[in-house]
Amino acid sequence: MNKTSCGIILLAAGHGKRMRSSLPKVLHEVGGRPLLFHVLERIQAVAPTAPIAIVLGHQSQKVEAAIRNSNLFSDLKITYIQQPEQRGTGHAAKCVMESSWGKDRLSARQPVLVLPGDQPLLNDELVSQILEPLSRTSALRLLTCELPDPSGYGRVVRRGKKGPVLRIVEERDANLREKAICEVAASIYFFQSSFLSVGLQRLSNKNSQGEYYLTDLIGQAVRAKKPIEVLVWKNHDHLRGVNDSWELAQAQRLLNEQTVKKWAQKGVKFLDPWSTWIDVSVEIGEEVVISQNVVLSGKTEIGRGVKLGPHVVLKNMQVGEGSEVKAGTVAENSTIGSHALVGPYAHLRPDSSVGEGCKIGNFVELKKTHIGDHTSVAHLSYLGDAEVGSHVNIGCGFVTCNYDGRVIEGERKHRTIIEDGVFLGSDCQTVAPVKIGKGAYVASGSTITEDVEADSLAVARARQVNKPGYARKLRS
Ligand code: UD1
Ligand code: CA
Repeated sequence: MNKTSCGIILLAAGHGKRMRSSLPKVLHEVGGRPLLFHVLERIQAVAPTAPIAIVLGHQSQKVEAAIRNSNLFSDLKITYIQQPEQRGTGHAAKCVMESSWGKDRLSARQPVLVLPGDQPLLNDELVSQILEPLSRTSALRLLTCELPDPSGYGRVVRRGKKGPVLRIVEERDANLREKAICEVAASIYFFQSSFLSVGLQRLSNKNSQGEYYLTDLIGQAVRAKKPIEVLVWKNHDHLRGVNDSWELAQAQRLLNEQTVKKWAQKGVKFLDPWSTWIDVSVEIGEEVVISQNVVLSGKTEIGRGVKLGPHVVLKNMQVGEGSEVKAGTVAENSTIGSHALVGPYAHLRPDSSVGEGCKIGNFVELKKTHIGDHTSVAHLSYLGDAEVGSHVNIGCGFVTCNYDGRVIEGERKHRTIIEDGVFLGSDCQTVAPVKIGKGAYVASGSTITEDVEADSLAVARARQVNKPGYARKLRS
């Protein structure tokens, strides 16, 4: 069967009460992406043209907006279906099958994959296997796995120990003997659609939670003597559900390990893989070395041969080939050119760029500042709203005074322009708006308040006066 000739129901209407958070559960993030997006990505990889019904309920607008605004899934055929009250997983699926999506969009012979929005560690192989063609007589294929600690999951009750599956019992409805079963239902099913539609009509909510359980369809199939195919998945990590904040943390850790391993297998050298955190959206080139406690998030791209020192935190950053970012540097929404040296303890705030071969040293902060190639800002400086050319040398302790309380042409912050080849001595300030022309020199300790012409020397400090013997006089 073509994997895409099925329909897909994604359950994402639940409250996620156990998260104890105002954010809908499926929007909590692991690896820098909402839980639900990880599931959608697997669908995108394995069945990109299948019609998808996403069931929304609790804060549905927020969830729908998150999917739409991400622009990650605009190629998928998504229909949003409302589940006005969250009356259980079976009720959620029923809302879909009774909607025009279930009635018109889906043909009676099209099988339906049902999966939850809170299992972010699924992999393509697993989704691909569950979508293998069902035999003609089967009611469904059920995905199960053995868990060392099955608490919280629905248990798979079989005849005898290894016999055929009889039903699934939710933890809250299970007796002691059933609770001891380690085989659990993963909440992922591939249904014959006619069986699903009819079965959902027959569900009852006579259970401890007063909900309509999708899992009850298994017992129904057994009673109707319809065959069930069971796919027992070996790696239980792939099926980990997220119901509370602790499970979210565990999923985050597992996903991170997968991500770090993927990059390590592509040749990235990690000095401590267990303390490195990398979002799924990060790209890393060859021969990169990453030290301890590094955090790379968002759309960060690390070029070939880059070295990242300990405690480096980069978000939405581009770092060019052969550069080194030293310990403790924090940088966001900016770019670093190739063969640059940044840090230790540099801070690049949004909308900054550092050119090729630059040196940005310790305790240098940049904000909305562009620095040309081969420029050095080596120590203890703040540059905000500045345009700095190439081959500029900025001495220690420079400050662009970009804000003085005035509003000029609607701008509160004013621009500083430092052209190519300028040499600024140590301990200078420029009071913006101001421009220092190409090749100019600025003497140490100057406070520049007026433009400096190209190739001039600016000295803006009082002349030194030496009074011979005066110190002795003061002491006496
Ligand atoms: C469910 C299964 C359980 C299984 C476990 C695996 C049922 C009754 N139980 O339990 O057997 O072991 O998943 O992770 O199916 N949802 C709705 N509408 C609702 C209720 C839930 O859309 O009215 C959605 C949720 O948003 C979630 C998914 O269904 O994405 C699963 O719901 P959840 O409450 O997390 O079920 P579990 O208790 O984990
Ligand atoms: Ca769950």
